[in-house]
Parts: sequence; structure tokens; C-alpha cells
Amino acid sequence: MNFSDKNVLITGGSAGIGLATAKTFVEKGANVLITGRNTDTLQTASGSINSPKLKTLPSDTSKLTDIELLAETVAASGNKVDVLVLNAGIAKQYSIEDTTEEVFDDLYNINVKGLFFTLQKLIPHLSEGASIVLISSGVSVSGYAQMGAYAATKSAVDAIARTAATELADRKIRVNVVAPGLTDTPMNQQTPADIKNAIAAAVPLKRIGQAEEIANAIVFLSSNEASYISGSYLAVDGGVTIRR
Ligand SMILES: NC(=O)c1ccc[n+]([C@@H]2O[C@H](COP(=O)([O-])OP(=O)(O)OC[C@H]3O[C@@H](n4cnc5c(N)ncnc54)[C@H](OP(=O)(O)O)[C@@H]3O)[C@@H](O)[C@H]2O)c1
Repeated sequence: MNFSDKNVLITGGSAGIGLATAKTFVEKGANVLITGRNTDTLQTASGSINSPKLKTLPSDTSKLTDIELLAETVAASGNKVDVLVLNAGIAKQYSIEDTTEEVFDDLYNINVKGLFFTLQKLIPHLSEGASIVLISSGVSVSGYAQMGAYAATKSAVDAIARTAATELADRKIRVNVVAPGLTDTPMNQQTPADIKNAIAAAVPLKRIGQAEEIANAIVFLSSNEASYISGSYLAVDGGVTIRR
């Protein structure tokens, strides 16, 4: 897979799955722009990739003004976006009974509203034949406890992807979903080891995922090798959704 001179934009590319994806695209020759809220994290990410092909932009996907600035930055570059990875997201675990309005709004503002309007504002800046990958989660099609609001945001992501795949097909733009299972990233740093081990034991492949494994799926779906794949939902979860 060769992405020489392709322009890739990854929201939430400063850590975890987004960072691993940025690294893989840069290795394959792409010019990559990553966003994130925290400028220190963006700087650390930039240092770890250490390539002139990587650019960073502080941008909070829950803020419409930041999304507009992102679109303006892309427009000012004079380049169209060939690959858009809508990855920025947060997870919060509460039972339905314990979910406050603040938790609900945080999840929806970042995972759904931010993703939706980033997509909307970048559509005019996508090249003909571009690829969009939306990062969902296996919980969008499952029924785990403590995941009600988060899972609902990810089901919304799946729905947005289906509509986008239909609406953008005339421009030969492919839209796909990658749905990771539990993956070893900063998002799960606080999860106690015994809980991670219990989750891993329930995975047919008996382990949790690595960010690079999710990145490989995102890169594949963005490549010419996936030229006839659009509207798909690719679970990258060691087989755990077999048992849902
Ligand atoms: N890790 C898992 O087990 C897992 C499983 C299924 C699905 N996912 C999904 O995969 C995606 C990436 O998760 P991850 O595990 O890589 O998370 P992570 O390690 O917490 O990294 C999240 C990235 O998104 C950025 N981000 C968060 N909120 C943002 C906002 N409002 N605006 C812009 N950037 C923002 C973070 O940077 P800042 O904090 O500096 O903004 C960071 O770069 C998420 O959509 C998540 O829901 C993860």
C-alpha cells in the first residue's frame, strides 16, 4: 500500500489509535495532519513520529469554531484531503441510572456532534475518490453494562457512516466504519489490570488489541486495495463480536 503524496487528516491523532494510524500513514509516504485538544500531547506525538510529513493543529472537535478553522486550514493549504479519519472520541462508563446530563452531553458533543460537523465542513475539501473512515466501537452493536450513553454515540456514528456512504458515492468517495474492541491505548490507562484480563479472557483470540492493529485496518480501508469497499462495518476485536 502506497500513500505517496496523499493527504491524510486524522482527528484525535495525538494519542492511541489516531497516533498509531498517523505513524503508519507517514511510513507509507502520506502527508498527515493530526488534531487534538492538548498542545503538549500534540507536540509529543510530533516528536515521536519525527517527520516533516506530519503536521499538527490544536483543535477541539466539540467546538464548531475549531472545526471551521480546521476546514479553513485545509483550504488554505491548497490541497484536497484524500483520506479523512474521524477518530477523536472519548469514553465514559456509567449505568443508565448514573449517567448525568453533563456526561451525556460531553459524549455526544465530541463523539457525535463533533464528528458530524467535522465531516460536514470537510466534504467540500475532499478529493474525488477520497476515503473516509469513522471510528466506532464494538459496543455500538452490543449490550454491555455501563456503556449506555457511549454505546449510543457509537451507534450514531454507524448511522452517519451509512448515510455518508450513500450521499458521497457520486464523487467516488468511499465511507467505512472501523469498530475496535478493547484496545491498549491511553483511553484505557485507568482500567484496572484484572478487568482488562477478564475482558481479554472473553475475546476468542484471548487478548486485547494493539493500536497498530486498528491502524492497519484503517489504512487498508483507505487504500486502493479496498477500492470496492464502501458502507462496511469492520470489527477489529479479536472476534469478540462473534459472541454478542
Ligand atoms: N481504546 C479502545 O479500547 C477503543 C475501543 C473502541 C473504540 N475506540 C474509539 O477509538 C477512538 C480513539 O480511541 P483511543 O483509545 O485511541 O483514545 P485515546 O487514547 O484517549 O486518544 C484519543 C485521541 O482523541 C483526542 N481527542 C479527544 N477528545 C477530543 C476532542 N474533543 N477534540 C479533538 N481531539 C480529541 C485526544 O487528544 P486530546 O485529549 O488532547 O484532545 C487523543 O489524541 C475513539 O473514538 C474511541 O471511542 C477505542
